[in-house]
Amino acid sequence: MRILQVTAEIFPLLKTGGLADIAGALPLALMAAGQDVRALLPGFPAIVAGVRHATTVADLDTPWGERVGLRLGSLHTEGAPDLPVYWIDAPALYDRPGNPYEDAARHAYGDNHRRFALLGWAAARLAQGLDAHWQPEVVHAHDWHAALAPAYLAFGQPHGRPRVGSVFTVHNLAYQGLFEPRHFPELGLPPAAYGLDGLEYHGQLSFMKGGLVFADRITTVSPTYAREIQTPEQGFGLDGLLRHRSGVLSGILNAVDDQVWNPATDHLLPERFDLDRLGGKAGCKAFLQKELGLARKADAPLFVVVSRLTEQKGLQLVLDGLDALLAQGGQLALLGSGDAPLEAAFRQRAEAAPKSVSVTLGYSEPLAHRLFGAGDVTLVPSRFEPCGLTQMYGLKYGSLPLVHRVGGLSDTVTDSSLENLEDGTATGFCFEHFTVADYERAQRRAFALYRRPDDWRAVRAHAMRRPADWATAAQSYLAVYRQALAG
Ligand code: ADP
Ligand code: GLC
Repeated sequence: MRILQVTAEIFPLLKTGGLADIAGALPLALMAAGQDVRALLPGFPAIVAGVRHATTVADLDTPWGERVGLRLGSLHTEGAPDLPVYWIDAPALYDRPGNPYEDAARHAYGDNHRRFALLGWAAARLAQGLDAHWQPEVVHAHDWHAALAPAYLAFGQPHGRPRVGSVFTVHNLAYQGLFEPRHFPELGLPPAAYGLDGLEYHGQLSFMKGGLVFADRITTVSPTYAREIQTPEQGFGLDGLLRHRSGVLSGILNAVDDQVWNPATDHLLPERFDLDRLGGKAGCKAFLQKELGLARKADAPLFVVVSRLTEQKGLQLVLDGLDALLAQGGQLALLGSGDAPLEAAFRQRAEAAPKSVSVTLGYSEPLAHRLFGAGDVTLVPSRFEPCGLTQMYGLKYGSLPLVHRVGGLSDTVTDSSLENLEDGTATGFCFEHFTVADYERAQRRAFALYRRPDDWRAVRAHAMRRPADWATAAQSYLAVYRQALAG
C-alpha cells in the first residue's frame, strides 16, 4: 500500500516531543512490513539540512497566492532503508530559528494558520496526483499541524482515479490549532467546510476539528485515551463529536524504536546492559551520579524525570513529594524545559540540596538516555497522558515507572501491589488520584520494594521484558488504513 505520513516533526531531524519519535519510527516499521511509505514535512531548517539529495517535484501557488516549492529527498537512518521525504520549500514561512511553532519568546507565530494549512493542503495535492511518479492510496495525518489534510481531501478527491483514504491521529487533544475565523477564507476551502459540521469551534477556527470531522478513520495513541477523550472531563469540548464518531475511532498503543532505545546496544550510555549483564546498569548509575554531582551512593534509589515542564506532566506532585523522597534516602535527577515557574521551582530545590537533587534545564537527547540507563524509578505523574513514551523507555531500561493511572500510562504500567507481585505481572508503581497523598503512597511503595532486592529484581526483569515492538503497532495501523481505503 502507498502511504503518505504527514507530520510537523520527525526524529532524528526535528523533535519537540513524542510525536517526532512516532513519526520517525512508524514509517520504518511500515516499510519493514513491505509497505511503500513516504513522509511530507514543512521545510524547517533542520528538515532542509537533514533530507539528502532533494529534487524538485513541483512549484505551486498556495490558496492565498504565495509561491512555494515541493521537494523530494531521502532520510537516511542507520540500519534501515532510506525513507523518501517530501518537504515544502517555503523559507518565508518556515526558515525561522528555534521551535517549529513558537518564536524565541514562546509566542505562537501569527501566521501559524498558513504555515500548517499548507502542510495539509500539500498532502491533498499529492493525493490528487501532483507527483506523476507516486500517489498515495492513504494519507495519514498527525496532530493539529497536519489536520487539514483530511479536510482538503474531503473536498478534493482525485478526478478519474480511485479515492484516497484519510487517517487522522490525535497525539494530544490539548493542542488544537485554534485561530480567528477571519482566516478561514485564506485557506481555500469551500464555505461548507466551516460551520458546526466543519472547522468551527466555539466561534473559532479549529484545525484539530478538521481532522476529527473529515478523516475516514481516527486513531489515538492508546486504548484508554481513546475512551477518555469521549468524556467531558478530557474531551476539551470535542467529546460529543468524538462520541458521534466512535465507530471510526480506535486507540493504537505507541511502541518503542529498538534501534534508538535499547540498553544492550545504546551508544549514548557509558555502559551497555541487558538482563544478563545488569552490572552495566550499576555502572550507568555511578557514572551519572558523578556527572551530575550527586552523592555517589549505589544504594540510594535514583528517581529520574525526562519531560516537558508543562501543566500536563503533573510535576507539581514531584515538587510536593520531594521532601518525603529525600527523607527516605532517595535522589532526584531531572532533565526538562518549559514553564518558567516550574523551571525556577526545580532549580531552587537543586540549589538547596545539590548532593541529592540535580536539575538540568534544557533539551539533551544523550542525557535523556543516560538518565533512563542510570535510574531506578522514572517519574511520570501526568495529569493526563495520551500515551507517554518516557515510561516505556523507563520499562525497557529497568528504571521502573511511577505513574498516574491515566491514558497510555495505565495501558503500559502495572502496579507493584501484593497481588500483582504474586502474579508476576508488576512492572512499576501507579497512583489512582491526582493528589499528593496518593502520589506519596506510590513513592513509598517504590522505596519499600527497593528494600526487598529479590522482589525489585523480579519486577525489573518483567519490566525490561515487556514487548513494545513496532511490528505489532504497524499491523494495527495497516488494518486501519485498509478500513480508510474502503471508505
Ligand atoms: P510528550 O510528547 O507529551 O512530550 P512523550 O513521553 O510521548 O511526551 O515523549 C517525550 C519525548 O521527548 C521522549 O522521547 C523524551 O525522552 C523526550 N524529551 C522530553 N523532554 C526532553 C528533554 N528535556 N531532553 C531530551 N529529551 C526530552
Ligand atoms: C503527545 C502526547 C504523548 C504521546 C506522544 C506521541 O505528545 O502528549 O502522550 O506519547 O504524543 O504519541
